[in-house]
Amino acid sequence: MAGLKTVDDLATSLDGLEGKRVLVRSDLNVPLQGSVITDDGRIRASGPTISDLTRRGAKVIVMAHLGRPAGEPDPSYSLAPVAARLGELLGRDVRHATDTVGAAARAAVGAMDGGDVVVLENVRFSPAETSKVDSERGAFAAELATFGDGFVSDGFGVLHRKQASVYDVARLLPGAAGGLVLREVEVLRRLTEAPERPYVVVLGGSKVSDKLGVIDSLIRTADTLLIGGAMAFTFLKALGHEVGKSLLEEDKVGVVRGYLDQAAQAGVRIVLPTDVVVAPELTADAPPMTVQADAMPPDQLGLDIGPESARQFSQVLSEARTAFWNGPMGVFERAAFAAGTQVVARALTEMDGWSVVGGGDSAAAVRTLGFRDDQFGHVSTGGGASLEYLEGKTLPGIAALERS
Ligand code: 3PG
Repeated sequence: MAGLKTVDDLATSLDGLEGKRVLVRSDLNVPLQGSVITDDGRIRASGPTISDLTRRGAKVIVMAHLGRPAGEPDPSYSLAPVAARLGELLGRDVRHATDTVGAAARAAVGAMDGGDVVVLENVRFSPAETSKVDSERGAFAAELATFGDGFVSDGFGVLHRKQASVYDVARLLPGAAGGLVLREVEVLRRLTEAPERPYVVVLGGSKVSDKLGVIDSLIRTADTLLIGGAMAFTFLKALGHEVGKSLLEEDKVGVVRGYLDQAAQAGVRIVLPTDVVVAPELTADAPPMTVQADAMPPDQLGLDIGPESARQFSQVLSEARTAFWNGPMGVFERAAFAAGTQVVARALTEMDGWSVVGGGDSAAAVRTLGFRDDQFGHVSTGGGASLEYLEGKTLPGIAALERS
């Protein structure tokens, strides 16, 4: 791909990878319950680049983050279970260094042979990783860079973060994009540059404020937007409906009204739920019922799109040639509120066109609901990163690679 160097290019510039130390930034940020990984999709997706490097005889030193620790070591965010799972998936020994750039990491890296893999401890245990001060990030990146002869950026889901292990390291070592990043960027280019039409985008999730930028740009590129999840309530309110106790971003109602007008002028269809599954509260025994979206009772909370809306969303998707989906339609973790997300996921698997599931959380949701990745055209490992790309933003992790 123009602009981005590949692992082959890196191998050429390092005169082969045999015995070379290659620092790889992966996105291994997986959901955990205690130390149990509930969805290992990102670890699976990161495996091929690591295997490719080990096959070429490189010493592979993996940098990754887990969650958002407070810039200091915190055992509940340790990458130990992730390193263990990576080892199982690769079918080889993967050593976990108990610190990131300290004595343990130096010893682990120093003891490596060609073909070995070491996972450094969570890079976010250092406040410098996410610092807004360039020199602080730069100093941490310089320490990380001492472990590598070259750098491979393969953490697609974190490319929108200007962080030491993503952005600054790329500027210090000969670098390349890993296969995962190249594939993801290719998919996003296809979505932004030449989507086959009709191009339908399904947006859900709780916060409309997270999606304002992407909605603004999708009004110019997509043919139809299907809006579900809690963010739909801000849209319903903008149409003048009462939404009971549902999650509502009151301060965004005006902006959303503007989007509805803009879309109408541009001939882009925005489809909102016509019915909603509600309950008095989000508890295990709360009795769910379905109500019309323009008649939500004041004492109820919307927790999923209703069956009529799910049918309509499916119908629109069945006619799409391209579809992109980000964000669940309801609280899918609870069986009573999972039907909307389930129906939309099924429609994406059944459509004749090309479907893309965008997002760490959406990807985890479809797998939790029992779908397989190969039932979709592409399942992305990056949520925020995909949305920022679709929004037209330059991702710092890509910009740094293009310069390296
Ligand atoms: C993600 O989960 O979207 C990525 O791993 C990035 O994580 P972050 O939002 O905590 O930076």
